[in-house]
Amino acid sequence: MAIILAVESSCDDTSAAIAINGEIRGNRVANQDVHARYGGVVPELASRAHQEALVPVVHAVLEEAGVSLAQVDAFAVTAGPGLMGSLLVGTSFIKGLALSLQKPLLAVNHMQAHILAHFIEAPRPNFPFLCLTVSGGHTQLVLLRDYFDFEILGQTIDDAAGEAFDKSAKLLGLPYPGGPLVDKYAALGNPKAFAFPVSKMSGYNYSFSGLKTSILYFLQKQQQQDPNFIVHNRNDLCASIQSTIVQILLHKLQAAAQDLGITRIAIAGGVSANSGLRLALQQLATDKNWELFIPDFQYCTDNAGMIAMTAHLQYERGFFADQLLVPDPRMPLQPKPQA
Ligand code: KG4
Ligand code: ZN
Repeated sequence: MAIILAVESSCDDTSAAIAINGEIRGNRVANQDVHARYGGVVPELASRAHQEALVPVVHAVLEEAGVSLAQVDAFAVTAGPGLMGSLLVGTSFIKGLALSLQKPLLAVNHMQAHILAHFIEAPRPNFPFLCLTVSGGHTQLVLLRDYFDFEILGQTIDDAAGEAFDKSAKLLGLPYPGGPLVDKYAALGNPKAFAFPVSKMSGYNYSFSGLKTSILYFLQKQQQQDPNFIVHNRNDLCASIQSTIVQILLHKLQAAAQDLGITRIAIAGGVSANSGLRLALQQLATDKNWELFIPDFQYCTDNAGMIAMTAHLQYERGFFADQLLVPDPRMPLQPKPQA
């Protein structure tokens, strides 16, 4: 039996989880409200908030799982990618525990954990499957042949899908993070009210920065005629922006699925909580006869449950980290060497 305590602190959520034999027995997340008034994550404030939240979150999850620190067999932590200061809080904390209790350390890649979150609960995808990871920092289309055998087919060359949502929301005067608010107002609007350009990228890569610029110019032009244009059209603007982002995301996913002849499709990351994306994907899956996998909401946005799951799979394969682990803010997504 293996008990793993995992911590996630790569951006602005402080989270801890316990995995017992690969089963997630507790997953606690403390969100940081401190960033809302600045319109984005302030790295220095994020690290300080992690320092405050980490110990209570770890205590809470140990209690929930009915596990004591002495019973933990291995300690796991997100080692990257993410904000350096935020990663340092989590890695220093977990390294301290592993060293003092003389237990092994597991270093987890945040983007890999978003994908492997699909193995926390049934239905779990069989291999091979395609996973579109859409978060605040990344947009990646990955072909999975096995847990640690995969290939990145495409990724964004500029903004991530979550950034496209958040930056568009900011242009509409909505607070950070704007993605969930765009989702909420989009449900009340007409997605065909306004037409925004859909980027044309070669291969399976994505680009979202042009969309943001076109929204900015469009709003500036409209506001010259009606200074309250945004207030009058908020729902239609949100619906049109959301539908454009979803269209861009699904176009490449569909092309890759068709080219590779794959019908098992998964989405992961914070943006997979978007109801427009979920609905469009479900419709596409029905049309194309795809088997679709979307994790439970708590495992879509940043959480330590996905870190604990990935750590369990690494533990089984002996993929341990050096006790001197240094976090890597730009850690690439790459398969682990076979043990
Ligand atoms: O995966 P995640 O929690 O953190 C990162 O690793 O980045 O993703 C956060 C991103 C933010 O950009 C947030 O606005 C977006 O996910 N997001 C959404 C929704 N919920 C979260 N975007 C659109 N609609 C949502 N419902
Ligand atoms: Zn994430």
